[in-house]
Amino acid sequence: MQKIESPAAFIGKDDNNLISFGSGQPDLPPPEAVYKILPTYRNFKYGLIKGQENLRQALAAQYQNAKADNFVITNGASEALDLTLRALYQPGAKVLLPKPYYYSYPFNVRLAGMEPVFYELVDGKIDFEQFKKEILGCQAVLINSPGNPTGTVQDLAVLKKIEKLGQKLNIYIISDEVYKDLIYERENYLMEGKKVLTLNSFSKTYAMCGFRVGYVYAREKELIDKIVEMKTHTSMNTNILGQEMAYEATKVPRSYIDSQTKIWKERRDLIYNGLWELGLEVWKPEGAFYVFPKMKNPGKVVSDLYFKYHVITYDGTWFGDEQRVRFSYALDAEKIKEGLRRLGEYLKKEYREN
Ligand SMILES: Cc1ncc(COP(=O)(O)O)c(C=O)c1O
Repeated sequence: MQKIESPAAFIGKDDNNLISFGSGQPDLPPPEAVYKILPTYRNFKYGLIKGQENLRQALAAQYQNAKADNFVITNGASEALDLTLRALYQPGAKVLLPKPYYYSYPFNVRLAGMEPVFYELVDGKIDFEQFKKEILGCQAVLINSPGNPTGTVQDLAVLKKIEKLGQKLNIYIISDEVYKDLIYERENYLMEGKKVLTLNSFSKTYAMCGFRVGYVYAREKELIDKIVEMKTHTSMNTNILGQEMAYEATKVPRSYIDSQTKIWKERRDLIYNGLWELGLEVWKPEGAFYVFPKMKNPGKVVSDLYFKYHVITYDGTWFGDEQRVRFSYALDAEKIKEGLRRLGEYLKKEYREN
């Protein structure tokens, strides 16, 4: 078996016969308003390190009592996460992460000089009683709802209890809300509170992954200052054209997001039902665009599906779960059906031998 070690082997891969349940990258186009500016756009200068004023103002309007100065525009949520963790650095500090986790989290924590520790999700959900114990002694905790790779949305009551706990214990809550607009089962809830650091991006909601525009919203000015200082000496301003396009995206009516969510939900139903029909055990995703079925020997499944069936899937081990495989359903219905057909063939012909 030719083992695939990391998602890096798959990110950006594409061809006509390939069915990719890999990257969490929307196949739908961004809203037209976003690229309408291209023919007349002419600003190629350095921009503010913090990010363009118009975009920060527009973002501040989306949160209660927020000010534009509390936002830094970053190269996707990825840079927001990196800078936020480095701003929180304390010698010997621990950062509490969900498990399974988005595969970059433990790397980011270690690169920031801190130690990742984990709270186990139960079928994708936070067990608050356990969480309450694990959080003690941590510098920060990371919440990701809706979550990658689980596709679960945390209960509102639990999120509110976590806000209170963070406040009481003086522990930072990093809330990665990149899937906040992709919820199928209830309204979204944005975490609030002085110790909350909100991360988000234009990658998923507006299908703009490659433009690399995201942000961090911190309620404490000292953290914003630290982040801006680091960004001054690393990437400097975020891609200025991307920021202008993101600004246009903030003006797109809510109906655009609702129409996208409707499509994601149809795809969710298609793949969820399809996996059950193939006999795989999987919980129903409530948000984002991932399903996470139980499978034996996920490393072999991922390798076989890729090399023998030309289907990309992600090994649960990359996300801290050695018994599951992640399928992204950010691809059109016909491809999902073809992918399920190939998966069915694989399950029938060779899976049992794993
Ligand atoms: C949970 C989560 N956070 C952050 C990111 C990074 O997104 P961005 O493209 O904004 O850097 C991703 C991308 O898949 C993600 O799934």
